[in-house]
Amino acid sequence: MSFESLKPKASAILSNLDRTPMARLEAVCELLRSEITYYDWVGYYFANHQTKTLHLKAYAGDPTDHTVIPFGKGICGQVAVSNENFVVPDVKGQDNYIACSINVKSEIVIPLFKDGENIGQIDIDSHTVDPFTPEDEAFLTWINTQVSAIV
Ligand code: SME
Repeated sequence: MSFESLKPKASAILSNLDRTPMARLEAVCELLRSEITYYDWVGYYFANHQTKTLHLKAYAGDPTDHTVIPFGKGICGQVAVSNENFVVPDVKGQDNYIACSINVKSEIVIPLFKDGENIGQIDIDSHTVDPFTPEDEAFLTWINTQVSAIV
């Protein structure tokens, strides 16, 4: 399904006041994982700025051991510090990387901002090498803007 046709579906999920914000977030993760062929795991980590750790709050895909990640560790932890998108075409090329599964070949992490503060991130793992384009970054940035309105 195209990014443009996914946007109204994501908006409908996120604006459903009958569900908790985290249930809506989980449903968005499942929408993206099921509709975009090369998105194999989709999750949201939220930052605790006191303890400088990221906490997994919603995801779709296989369960992961990495539910808490210190700032600076792995791709996710680096984005917590840099406040910038991180696209990894091939995880084999990364030294500071936390492997969740041997099947993961690539990863994209886009920070989630609320009122200008980096409060978390969307993290996507793919079993395909080098699948992510600037269109993925633009789409996921748009998704995060919608998400920031409900968290
Ligand atoms: N690979 C991530 C860890 C999280 S898992 O992908 C779910 C990282 O290096 O930060």
